[in-house]
Formats: sequence, C-alpha cells, structure tokens
Amino acid sequence: MILVTGGAGYIGSHTCVELLNAGFDITVFDNFCNSNPEALARVERISGRKMGLIEGDCRDHASLVAALKKCKANAVIHFAGLKAVGESVAQPLSYYDNNVVGTLRLLQAMQECDVKTLVFSSSATVYGDPVQLPLTEDHPLAPTNPYGRSKLMVEEILRDLHHSDNTLRISILRYFNPVGAHASGLIGEDPQGIPNNLMPFVAQVAVGRREALSVWGNDYPTPDGTGVRDYIHVVDLAHGHLKALEALEASQSAQVNKSGQCLIVNLGTGLGYSVLDVVQAFEKASGRSIPYRIAPRRPGDIASCYADPKRAFALLDWKAKLGLEEMCASSWHWQCTNPKGYQS
Ligand code: NAD
Ligand code: WQD
Repeated sequence: MILVTGGAGYIGSHTCVELLNAGFDITVFDNFCNSNPEALARVERISGRKMGLIEGDCRDHASLVAALKKCKANAVIHFAGLKAVGESVAQPLSYYDNNVVGTLRLLQAMQECDVKTLVFSSSATVYGDPVQLPLTEDHPLAPTNPYGRSKLMVEEILRDLHHSDNTLRISILRYFNPVGAHASGLIGEDPQGIPNNLMPFVAQVAVGRREALSVWGNDYPTPDGTGVRDYIHVVDLAHGHLKALEALEASQSAQVNKSGQCLIVNLGTGLGYSVLDVVQAFEKASGRSIPYRIAPRRPGDIASCYADPKRAFALLDWKAKLGLEEMCASSWHWQCTNPKGYQS
C-alpha cells in the first residue's frame, strides 16, 4: 500500500492513475488546500479502480501516524506542498511551514511506523540560475526564492536522514516544467485565479477566458529572445514515479544486507523550448490563434533551463516519451472539456 500525500493535486492525480493502472493499492492523504476531491473521483473513473482517501494535513503528526497505520503503508510518495514562487516570496513562513515542517512531520511519522520507502517531489528550481546547461544533478544548488529553498532544505534533511539510517530507500525527483493532461481529458491542471505558469495561461487565452498572453521578455540570450524551458508531459512524469518506486523496491529485494539508497534524479526531457515555440505549438494543437504582447522580464526569471536526463535513464530506466505536440494537444483537450477546471 502506498500513501500518496497531495494525491489530489495536478501531478499527484496523474500519478495515482498510473499507480492504480499498474496494480498498486493506494491511499491519498490531502487537505485539499489547492485541489478538488472531484479529481480523485475522476482518477477512479479513468482507472476503474478504488483508492483510499484520508483528509488531513501533513503538518499534523498524529493524523499522519494514524493514516500510515490505517492503510498499512509500506511506501510514501510525497507531493503535498505549496508551489507558487511569487506567493513564497510574499508568505515565506507559510512555505517553510507547509513544505519543510510538513515533510519533517511526515518523516517522523514514517520513522514511528517503520515505513522506509519515500519518493519526494523536488524541483529543478533548486539549481537556481544555471552555471552550465544542460543541468546535471551535480550542478551547484542555489535556489533564488523561498519556495526553492524549502525544496533544498527538504533535500538536505533527506540526505542527513539517509546518512543516519542507510536502510532507508529515498528517491528525490527534480521535476522540470510539468505541463499537459491525461489523454481522457478528465484530469488536468486546475489553477486557482490567474495562472502563473505559461501553459495554463496559454490554454485560457486559446479558450477565450483571457485576452492575450504577456510574454515576459524577448531580450534573453536565447534563439528568439524569449525564455527557454524543459517542458515535460505530466503523464511521463507520473511514469517516472512508478519507475522510481520500482527501483527502490528492486534495491530492497536485491540487497541482502538491507542497505537502502538515496537517489537524486532529474525528470526532464533534455529539450528546451522558448515561450514562442510553446505559443506556436499550442496554436497548431488548438487551431486557435494566441494573441500575445511582449512585456518586461518577470523578476527572478532565468533565460534558459533544461535537464540532462541521462541519470534517470541509467538508474530508473525512464525516459520522457511525449513531445511538445502531445503536451499542447492534451492541455487543450482538458481545457475545452473543462473550461472552468473541476468546477465545470
Ligand atoms: P498541486 O498544488 O496541484 O498539488 C499539491 C497537493 O498537495 C494539493 O492537492 C494540495 O491540496 C495538497 N497539499 C498542500 N499542502 C498540504 C498539506 N500541508 N497537507 C496535505 N495536503 C497538502 O501541485 P502539483 O503541481 O501537483 O505539485 C506537486 C508537488 O510537486 C509539489 O510538492 C510541488 O512543489 C512539486 N513540483 C511541482 C512543479 C510544478 O510546476 N507543478 C514543479 C516541480 C515540483
Ligand atoms: C515558463 C516561461 C516565463 C507565464 C515555475 C517555477 C518552478 C517550477 C515550475 C515548481 C518563462 C514565461 C510565463 C506568462 C510568460 N515549479 N511566461 N508569460 O518560471 O520556468 O517555473 O514553474 O517547482 O519552480 O519557477 O515556469 O511556466 O511560469 O514560465 O512569458 O504568463 O514562460 O517568463 O520563460 P518557470 P513558467
């Protein structure tokens, strides 16, 4: 049984589908602060399987212990956390509380219940402004905002914890830019208010909910002057979690001395696309035009960021399979069938 914290969220819900499809039994632990229980009903519809649900907060140690015991978890995938960079600058305490304290409570609860396997959602944001590209996992870590620092703090806690108990099996996954939606059109990203991220904003322009996209800067040292990112399809990302879990389980059965591991792996495609590449691909996928205007750079943005994904292939046998076309097509399908997200 796997406890999936934050399983009702964007990446969590897509991962739940793949876990259920692969035959895992799962229980979601979520406080729904940035998600809707409807997502879980749809996960069950897509997979044709049932899952457990415990409504609770990761900062509440007693709820976590009760949840781990109730569902007899032998592994945890930890998605729960806050993720908006701008909000983290305005409300750092809330980010350190949810992301760092929440994870600390989870680790204490896991220790108490003797659960030794963890997959953790980290982010490429821990690298900060790239010194060299593509970003390998040993690139220096220098996040530039409280959100990124909260992820780095958790990574450091996990490394220290593994050092203290090397029977733990931990996978730290550094996601690049997750986009897209499940092919069914039933689950997808459902941002509250005005989207901060490019792809959901573009989708809302295409569907007529927003007038035009502001392209934050066209004077970066990139081929067309706009920011370059490594967009990764959320379904590929979900598969990466299964592969990480399988790699940790394999290490458990293979090693007679019960020694665990602490893997740190990038989950990206290795390809960089500019803002205008995304606009063009989305226009093609949707058959709609995406009006845009060039606006000043967004403070804190970097020019380019893309992964070296070799380690994920070597250690997890995982590689992204879906391209920008599928990312835009699935985003558009989700947007059209659910113009107001789960409220539709
Ligand atoms: P999301 O907001 O859609 O999902 C997070 C889920 O966690 C939500 O269901 C929310 O209700 C829940 N949650 C938040 N705080 C909680 C708490 N204290 N207790 C219980 N539940 C709580 O976000 P997502 O995009 O699915 O991201 C999942 C994880 O991946 C996050 O940790 C995020 O930081 C990380 N990540 C996301 C991105 C991205 O761009 N989406 C990139 C890199 C890393
Ligand atoms: C992509 C590109 C923008 C919106 C953020 C977090 C990161 C990670 C993923 C969690 C950039 C440009 C965007 C718009 C634009 N999250 N853009 N107009 O900034 O790479 O990463 O989400 O871990 O931590 O920082 O993603 O989608 O916001 O931006 O021109 O309205 O699109 O400038 O070049 P980003 P994004």
